[in-house]
Amino acid sequence: MDKILVRGGRRLRGEVAVSGAKNAALPILVSSLLTAEPCVCHGVPDLLDIYTVLKLLGGLGVRVKRGDLQAASGEVTLQADQVPHLEAPYDLVKTMRASFLVLGPLLGRFGEARVSTPGGCAIGARPVNLHLKGLAEMGAEIDLIHGYVVAKAKRLRGAKIYLDFPSVGATENLMMAAALAEGVTIIEDAAREPEVEDLAAVLNKMGAWVEGAGTDIVKIEGVKELHGVTHRIIPDRIEAGTYIVAAALTGGEVEVKGARPDHLDAFLLKLKETGAMLSTDRDKVKVVGKGRPVSVDLTTLPYPGFPTDLQAQMMVLMAVSNGVSVITENIFENRFMHALELNRMGADIRLEGNRAIVKGVERLSAAPVMATDLRASVSLVLAGLVAEGQTEITRVYHLDRGYAHVERKLSGLGADIERVRG
Ligand code: UD1
Repeated sequence: MDKILVRGGRRLRGEVAVSGAKNAALPILVSSLLTAEPCVCHGVPDLLDIYTVLKLLGGLGVRVKRGDLQAASGEVTLQADQVPHLEAPYDLVKTMRASFLVLGPLLGRFGEARVSTPGGCAIGARPVNLHLKGLAEMGAEIDLIHGYVVAKAKRLRGAKIYLDFPSVGATENLMMAAALAEGVTIIEDAAREPEVEDLAAVLNKMGAWVEGAGTDIVKIEGVKELHGVTHRIIPDRIEAGTYIVAAALTGGEVEVKGARPDHLDAFLLKLKETGAMLSTDRDKVKVVGKGRPVSVDLTTLPYPGFPTDLQAQMMVLMAVSNGVSVITENIFENRFMHALELNRMGADIRLEGNRAIVKGVERLSAAPVMATDLRASVSLVLAGLVAEGQTEITRVYHLDRGYAHVERKLSGLGADIERVRG
C-alpha cells in the first residue's frame, strides 16, 4: 500500500488550481441514469471515488466514455440508453456511500431498483432513513431483503416531504427521483449545499423543473422524459479550503485558483479570525499566513454553516494556535479520529463527546500516523507540513478518494512531500 512522506518546515508559496468538486460530480454522473441521451460532464476530478461511481454505472449497463481525467478538461460522457441491471452491489456501496444515490433515479425512470444498504462507516452510523422515508412518501414500496433495499413503484408521484435533518444525499436522491415523478414534490428542510444547486442546474438543463435549490425548500415538478446535457462541475470548495489552511498554517503566500469565495463564506470568516490575510476575487482566493494562528472556536453545521468536511483541517491550525479552541462537531458523531493521531504528533487535544478542546502547542513533531477517513487523512498531511522531522502517513487510499494529485499540488507550492508506492 502507498505511503506519503512529508518533511515539515517549508512555507508554501505560489499558485494551486482546484479540481472539480467530488461531491457535485458524484450525483451529477449518477443523474445520467435519468435519460437515454448522452450526458457530457466537464471538470470531473481524477479521484478514486469517481472511478468507483463510473464502475457502478458501467455495471448497471451505462455506456461510459472517459477522457483523461488528469487533464483540466476532465471529460466524461455517459449514456444510459440500456440499463439491464437495476442493482448496486454491496462491494461498491460499502466502499463509497454515495453509490446509494442510484436508488432515486433508477426507481424514477425504471420503476424498480435493488441497492445495497451502506452500513456504517468510520465517521459514524450514517443511516439512509431519510432517503427511504421520502421515496416511500412518493409511493415507493420498499423492503429490506438480505441487506439490500428493494424498491418498486409503477410511477412515483409527487409528495410533500419534510426531512428531519437537511441531509445532502437524501435531498439529491429525492430530487432525482422527483424529476420523473407524476406531479409536484416539495422537499422541506432540504440541504442547501452548492453541490445540491449544481445537481439542480443539471436536472433543469435536462428538461426538469426544479426550483429553490440552494434554499431549504426545493420544489420539483415531474416531467415524463429528460434529455441529454453538457455541464461543467463546480470547483471543489473543500479542496480549496484545504489548500487555504495549508497556506495559513505554514505562514505561506498562496493563490488558490478556481476557489469560489461565495461557497466558502463561513470558513473564510473563521480563517480571518485566526489572523490569516485573505483577498478574494470571483474565482480565486489569495491567502497570506501571518505568524502563529489566533485560537478560535468553531461549530460545524449544515451549509451555509461551517462545513464538517473542513473541521479536521482547521483542527490542525488550532493545534498550533496561541490559545485554546473548542471545536464542536454537529454533523457526524464520530468525526474526531484524526485528533488521536494529531496527539501522537505532539498536539494537545482532549475529546469530550462531540467537542474537541484543542490547546495550541508551539510545534508538532513528526510521527508515523494512519489515515482513517478522507478528511482525517488530509489533516495528517497538513500536520506533517509544520511538524519537525518526517511524517509517514499510511492508508492513503482514503486521501486518494477525495484529493486529486495532492502530493503533486503541494510540492508545486514548495512542500517537501513524496508518495512511496507499495
Ligand atoms: C455529504 C458529503 C460529505 C459531507 C456530508 C455533510 C457527498 C458525496 N458527501 O454526505 O462529504 O461530509 O454531506 O456535509 O456529497 N443522516 C440521517 N439519515 C439519512 C441521511 C443522513 O440520519 O437518511 C444523517 C447522517 O448520519 C449524518 C447527517 O445526517 O449524521 C449528514 O449526512 P448527509 O448530509 O446525508 O451526508 P452525505 O450526503 O452522506
